[in-house]
Amino acid sequence: MVHPLHLLLLLAQIFFFQSILAVDFVFNGFNSSDLLIYGDTTLESRVLSLTNASTFSMGRALFPSKIPTRSSNSSDLLPFSTSFIFSIAPYEKKLPGHGLVFIFVPSTGMEGASSSQHLGLFNRTNNGNPSNHVFGIEFDVFANQEFGDINDNHVGVDVNSLTSVTANKSGYWADDETFEDLRLNNGGNYQVWIDYLDSQLSVTMAPVGLSRPRRPLINFSINLSGVFLGETYVGFCGATGLLVESHRILGWSFSNSNFSISQELILTNLPSFVPPKSSVFRSKAFITGITVATIIVIGCSIVIYLLLVKRKGRRARDREAMEDWELEYWPHRMTYQDIYAATKGFSEENVIGIGGNGKVYKGVLVGGVEVAVKRISHENNDKLREFLAEVSSLGRLKHRNLVRLRGWCKKEKGSLILIYDYMENGSLDKRVFECEESLILKWEDRIRVLKDVAAGVLYLHEGWEARVLHRDIKASNVLLDKDMNGRLADFGLARMHGHGQTASTSRVIGTVGYMAPEVVRSGRASAQTDVFGFGVLILEVACGQRPIEDGKPPLVDWVWGLMEQGELVLALDQRLKAMGGFDIEEVERVLHLGLLCAYPDPRARPTMRQVVKVLEGKSGVEEPEEEGMDVYLLNKLRSTTMWSKYRRSLGRGGHPTFGEIRQSLSSSMSLSSSEIIKEGR
Ligand SMILES: *[C@@H]1O[C@H](CO)[C@@H](O)[C@H](O)[C@H]1NC(C)=O
Ligand SMILES: *[C@@H]1O[C@H](CO)[C@@H](O)[C@H](O)[C@H]1NC(C)=O
Ligand SMILES: *[C@@H]1O[C@H](CO)[C@@H](O)[C@H](O)[C@H]1NC(C)=O
Ligand SMILES: *[C@@H]1O[C@H](CO)[C@@H](O)[C@H](O)[C@H]1NC(C)=O
Ligand SMILES: *[C@@H]1O[C@H](CO)[C@@H](O)[C@H](O)[C@H]1NC(C)=O
Ligand SMILES: *[C@@H]1O[C@H](CO)[C@@H](O)[C@H](O)[C@H]1NC(C)=O
Ligand SMILES: *[C@@H]1O[C@H](CO)[C@@H](O)[C@H](O)[C@H]1NC(C)=O
Ligand SMILES: *[C@@H]1O[C@H](CO)[C@@H](O)[C@H](O)[C@H]1NC(C)=O
Repeated sequence: MVHPLHLLLLLAQIFFFQSILAVDFVFNGFNSSDLLIYGDTTLESRVLSLTNASTFSMGRALFPSKIPTRSSNSSDLLPFSTSFIFSIAPYEKKLPGHGLVFIFVPSTGMEGASSSQHLGLFNRTNNGNPSNHVFGIEFDVFANQEFGDINDNHVGVDVNSLTSVTANKSGYWADDETFEDLRLNNGGNYQVWIDYLDSQLSVTMAPVGLSRPRRPLINFSINLSGVFLGETYVGFCGATGLLVESHRILGWSFSNSNFSISQELILTNLPSFVPPKSSVFRSKAFITGITVATIIVIGCSIVIYLLLVKRKGRRARDREAMEDWELEYWPHRMTYQDIYAATKGFSEENVIGIGGNGKVYKGVLVGGVEVAVKRISHENNDKLREFLAEVSSLGRLKHRNLVRLRGWCKKEKGSLILIYDYMENGSLDKRVFECEESLILKWEDRIRVLKDVAAGVLYLHEGWEARVLHRDIKASNVLLDKDMNGRLADFGLARMHGHGQTASTSRVIGTVGYMAPEVVRSGRASAQTDVFGFGVLILEVACGQRPIEDGKPPLVDWVWGLMEQGELVLALDQRLKAMGGFDIEEVERVLHLGLLCAYPDPRARPTMRQVVKVLEGKSGVEEPEEEGMDVYLLNKLRSTTMWSKYRRSLGRGGHPTFGEIRQSLSSSMSLSSSEIIKEGR
């Protein structure tokens, strides 16, 4: 039996700790003594701006003292309740990105942070490191494949990594249980509530002025004991990349004892950062865009409806029956049980990659054949459609430089599964960028792989009755088989088009850094946009650099600059210079080819057939025609007429950079980039 006095003492002790440990603060606007700020963060008119209007800007703001996370020496975590008001607004004529994060971090400063997709929180090295002791809630407006982002407008829970442990598209549950979508970066003022109590985390958001929705956006069970040190800093960080937007915090409350503290936030008379409705929305281009999009949507709906009706009818007749086109085109169907066994029940240890479509597993079929298994869940209709596009094209395409689809399997409810040949040597990017010395590809191997890829793309463009666009050519989509042959993978984005037509979609598909300017502008993909992607691939493979790296000019601009200074050879991968085994003339020719392929004006780019010729035409002397081609391309590249045209159109002297051309092209953009760009994959 517990003595009442003991109980009283215990209570007194708890209250004593609580009173010592309690941290409460409310900021209705900030002044310079309220926060520690780092990077490009500024305070103006009591509003906190985490980033400025520059590209690759990042910043951080922290409450000045550490807050305790534990109530005593026990492992019990203190609860917390915080609320803040943020606004993310696009700048005129700029593509918006990347996002902000509410963070708990162990130390001040922003060491180990980088901009763009790393959101001013981590960098490529420390992302995912358990010793980060970082917990955050991200408000991310970009879909990054490498972090498995669900879309380009989501709220995610981050533990030591930008790969969220859970995430939802942003929005809120109205009282009648309907879900209302919210666009994070439309400049609107949004209030966020984040509560953590007894290992249950809830994140809720709503436009300022709305009372707190009863049902949270995220309700997630998570034990943060291992994440939080005894004391931690709390605050915000954010970043821009090549894409720029403002990230502002207007007010903030925090408490680890009083869950009503957010009531003290003043929600009236807040400044508004919603950009004025520009004439873009009334412009011809916009109206045309909307009309085209509407027609496409209606067209797709009809087709999908018809397919569904047809499928339903069939299913009713015979559940296992295959559709005619499945029988005609698709490779072998396999049983789910076989695939399940091959991948040890889709175990995490068999995961070899995470693509835009879902996880990729390594599997071993009965008989010892190694395969790569790509699993796509049914939940998301967009993904399902991507999947169907991929299967229906790849199943029919056969070429030694394309990754072969061995089979597929479909579950009544659950996942759709694709089985590919396993590529022993992984993806090209792992052999060119940051990797062990022993894995780095030699110059001759790089050239061979580029030739392989060029042959693969040429086959897609011309080798088949319908033109297939790849739309996402990049190093991580080039895989190496056991003989180190390059094979192009991931046709999730490929769509069929009759020869001679340009394809158009209502949103742009591709990866930032590999996307041709006309795609950013109009959403229109063509064979020339694949050539652009291939040009960037050439440059990254030859230079050993990613197309966009923090704090550096885009790779294409940089190489172009070196060419203008007559120092093209400096662009060659440093490690190759040390290894030797290359021919300077060939290096120059390949870099020239890359630059020409990645030329901003699509009309100046060569066709894939010409590209293949230049790559193959090593000994052009014997074949005058190919020598001619080489010279022709070089002259075309060196002629500055096209550059001066752009210069005039920009109304300024000096050669414009690729970035400037991109910008001048995108200023006539009809849709906001967040609607049309999808990064990742
Ligand atoms: C800043 O705000 C704090 C309270 O939030 C107040 O005590 C302090 O006087 C203010 N300082 C300035 C310089 O306005
Ligand atoms: C952003 O901040 C950086 C340094 O903090 C500065 O160099 C740059 O000029 C700023 N950009 C703008 C547009 O204010
Ligand atoms: C709790 O930690 C303090 C030092 O931080 C120590 O003095 C004290 O003995 C510890 N109490 C228990 C119950 O472990
Ligand atoms: C990331 O930050 C750490 C310091 O925390 C640094 O050692 C490392 O070099 C950085 N990595 C990159 C890729 O910048
Ligand atoms: C939020 O994410 C969870 C887990 O992924 C999912 O079950 C839920 O349906 C999502 N809610 C919305 C509104 O998307
Ligand atoms: C959140 O989930 C927990 C259990 O997972 C449940 O007990 C709780 O009621 C949920 N909260 C809300 C607000 O839905
Ligand atoms: C959280 O995890 C720690 C150890 O990691 C454990 O001691 C503690 O009991 C857990 N808390 C809850 C509520 O499960
Ligand atoms: C919690 O905060 C609310 C709002 O500031 C206040 O009205 C209430 O008295 C506080 N409760 C406690 C126990 O401090």
